[in-house]
Amino acid sequence: MALRDIVLEGDKALTKVCRPVEKFDEKLAKLLDDMADTLKKADGVGLAAPQVGILRRVCIVDVGDEDGVIELINPEITETSGNQSGAEGCLSFPNQYAVVERPMFVTVKAQDRNGNEFVKKGEGLKARAFCHEIDHLNGVVFIDRAERMLDPEEIEKA
Ligand code: CO
Repeated sequence: MALRDIVLEGDKALTKVCRPVEKFDEKLAKLLDDMADTLKKADGVGLAAPQVGILRRVCIVDVGDEDGVIELINPEITETSGNQSGAEGCLSFPNQYAVVERPMFVTVKAQDRNGNEFVKKGEGLKARAFCHEIDHLNGVVFIDRAERMLDPEEIEKA
């Protein structure tokens, strides 16, 4: 088990467009394992490689269902439908939450750690997490998409 440091608001890594993964090697496997450990420790639902300072198109999502940790390499959103408006946060922005509108249903095409392509559908929280994490790979954070920030009283209620 190895934890990586999560960069915080203001770090340049959060504003960069990440490069595609070309080598599906041991280094990638180690990054994914470390990201999963880091996400679990932080008790989050998703983590993108730039959040641990690696500017590659890699992210993971775990909404606590039967899928466990979903590893997305070079992910692309291929289809969206519906919409949802709800509270969203980010491990790089502790104690900040915003109302963000996202699609209710999202289809993602990605590669696994061995380079094999797959398609994954997400609904509700999982759709939101896919969008949030893939945004990170393009240097976009949830604050950029916020309708408004939640105030401390609202955060306590939520
Ligand atoms: Co985030």
